[in-house]
Amino acid sequence: MKNIDSRTHTRGESIYLDDIPLIQGTLFGASFGSPVANGVIKKLDLSEAEKAPGVVKILTYKDITGANQIGGIVPDEPLLADHHVDFCGMPIAFVVAESTEAAHAAVKKIKVEIDPLPVITDPREAQALGQLIVPPRTHRLGDTQSAWQHCQYIFDGVAETNGQEHLYIETQGAYAIPQENNALKIYSSTQSPRATQQASCKVLGLPMHQVEVDVIRLGGGFGGKEDQANAWAALCALAAHLLKKPVKYALDRMEDMAMTGKRHPYSSDFKIGLDKDFKILAYEVTFYQNAGAAADLSPAVLERTLFHCTNTYFIPNVQAVAYSCKTNLPPNTAFRGFGGPQGMFVIEAAIVKAAENLGVDASVIQQINLNKTGDEFPYGQLAVSEARACWDKAESKFDISRIKVETEDFNKNNRLYKKGLAMMPICFGISFTNTMMNQGRALVHVYTDGSVSVSTGAVEMGQGVNTKMLQVAAFVFGIDSDKVKLQSTSTSRVANTSPSAASATADLNGKAVFMACSQIADRLKQVIAEEMHVAAESVTLKDNHVYINNEKQDYTWERLIMAAFFKRVSLSEHAHYATPEIHYDKLKEKGHPFAYHVYGTAITQVSIDCLRGTYEIDAVKVVHDFGVSMNPLIDRGQIEGGIVQGIGWMTMEELIYDKNGKLKSNALSTYKVPDIYSVPKVLDIDFLDSSYDNLAIFRSKAVGEPPLMYGIGAYFALRNAIKAFNPSAHIPLSAPMTPEKTLMALYSKPLKPDQEKNEETTSSLEVNQQ
Ligand code: MTE
Ligand code: HPA
Ligand code: MOS
Repeated sequence: MKNIDSRTHTRGESIYLDDIPLIQGTLFGASFGSPVANGVIKKLDLSEAEKAPGVVKILTYKDITGANQIGGIVPDEPLLADHHVDFCGMPIAFVVAESTEAAHAAVKKIKVEIDPLPVITDPREAQALGQLIVPPRTHRLGDTQSAWQHCQYIFDGVAETNGQEHLYIETQGAYAIPQENNALKIYSSTQSPRATQQASCKVLGLPMHQVEVDVIRLGGGFGGKEDQANAWAALCALAAHLLKKPVKYALDRMEDMAMTGKRHPYSSDFKIGLDKDFKILAYEVTFYQNAGAAADLSPAVLERTLFHCTNTYFIPNVQAVAYSCKTNLPPNTAFRGFGGPQGMFVIEAAIVKAAENLGVDASVIQQINLNKTGDEFPYGQLAVSEARACWDKAESKFDISRIKVETEDFNKNNRLYKKGLAMMPICFGISFTNTMMNQGRALVHVYTDGSVSVSTGAVEMGQGVNTKMLQVAAFVFGIDSDKVKLQSTSTSRVANTSPSAASATADLNGKAVFMACSQIADRLKQVIAEEMHVAAESVTLKDNHVYINNEKQDYTWERLIMAAFFKRVSLSEHAHYATPEIHYDKLKEKGHPFAYHVYGTAITQVSIDCLRGTYEIDAVKVVHDFGVSMNPLIDRGQIEGGIVQGIGWMTMEELIYDKNGKLKSNALSTYKVPDIYSVPKVLDIDFLDSSYDNLAIFRSKAVGEPPLMYGIGAYFALRNAIKAFNPSAHIPLSAPMTPEKTLMALYSKPLKPDQEKNEETTSSLEVNQQ
């Protein structure tokens, strides 16, 4: 089945926040952000701005009617700065005017005097000063201390990954419309309607039943709107509440890039020990997460870094420590993979470091250490593993030995062009790491004409979840898909929803749709049973008709609905689903946090131009564990998009903050995202036929985030290509591998042993600035 949005998307008719018809009298907002990354506000002068044409009101923290607080996990984030600013772009004032242009013009007239304080942008510096968002976490398996003595080879090093701008095509925004009796309706581009509702209510001092948050769809979220949509909705809500006028604020691209948090940069230390057969016996890692100035989702992201610190390998002795470090950057946040990719990069870097020193291909070490069913993850859950199945199928299906020979031949015969190859196996846990969040709900109505309305807590952001919800309802009722309509995601129809995140949206909400529809279907079968004097169990619903003992009856779905209505049978149902089996003990750091894992293996091939440092991704060939895909077209799209986004993070997207905490890569002219030309020339995606039962909806495993991590292979393939040109090249284990860094690496000299430690701790942030 095609994505149900494809028709309106391609015709430009899909409705996003900015397409909602405006109500007469609507006012427009713009925010004034701090020009300084750390300091004390001495004086805020609004007088000029207030006189500017079209300005209706300028709000500051003093105008907040409830609490000046939007922190989700930790209450450490004011909506509007009061006396203190702690990142560049932190909102200080909100201008409300008759047009967006007038609001922006007035923002330029606001003057602020700030006494600057020292700015910290480096997570290791923050950790050394004790500036942590939450206490550090440690995951342990076995005993690394005693394991080192059994290791034949031990290597240590530093690995770094930079952040990533979400660059959803639709920027952040909200439109708040006052209702009677102080109530509000907020349209928001949010992944989490409940969180947006709650934050707005807290800021306004209203009970949650007074505020409805309604989401039609998002032009992309990628995690950037899981928590960070709340501020803009709360600002609009506050202004609408005070002025009794509709207020809309859609950020322009530079506001969005400057004011919102991104994927967390990480700097990490690793130590890896192997036996003589290259089995990894011990692994120690310390993660320094650059959280930015407030907690936002950082503690949860940190936790997932720990959960994925061994990727898809079984390592019997592990110690992983993670620090969430408070710096003066905009609070960093969820981004596809949610800390998992950062953790997985480090174990891959450790394996590559070992491989290069041992003179073997990294794939030799990777393959030997793949986990198998029954192996324990450091957090206590036992693997139900498809790791080897995916790896083996990738090797045979794509003829890895031929690829290896071709790569070697090419490199022998070409001096100034080199090819590189890397394998990237993945393993990603599905479920919110916070067990409590794993719940979904659905509200289903069947109308008397037989058409069906489905509301869920799922937010459509391009990932195709609405299409999957529709498939579930149409399947259970046995009717054509055009009889089913997916409604917008509204807190009034489905309450208390978890964010659409963690790749779990289709599972959580799809199971709820399944339950609600099944309950209605059971009642309908009872109607037939009574009317036709047959057992309810003999009735099935298929092809828009009633079947009895698998025989089609001259009895349509529409007739059945009318029959039920006349018998006063309820044609509506609300259902609640909570993932079974999962649990986690944060004190012991052990449990069974994930409903299941998604596996896969990617082969990445690249070519570099050794005169210029430029490169192309020749091919990414994947065997992916879909379970049994309920929509191969959509799932393939998710994999293609995830791979390209992952390659972008690993190769070209270079976030640069200067020492003063100011974002330098603040526009699309200075921040390079993948375009159509950066897409791998060959993108081959193969399905693993997986037989295990699982907790996914219709056994169709979650697909949203896992493929991003295939992109990590691009970094290591480039590294191999550089080494083919200059075998003694010094290449810091630091992503992204931009063309500039590639060029420098191609002509680099090996480090002397005493230089090694110093060089390797150079963060990509500092490299960027040099
Ligand atoms: N695909 C599109 N087109 N747009 C998005 O914003 N977000 C990703 C992924 N794929 C995203 C996307 C992220 S971060 C997640 S967690 C999942 O989709 C969320 O949707 P799901 O739970 O339905 O997979
Ligand atoms: N994944 C994504 N988003 C989340 C999670 C998670 O595990 N926990 C809280 N928000
Ligand atoms: Mo995705 S990072 O869980 O929104």
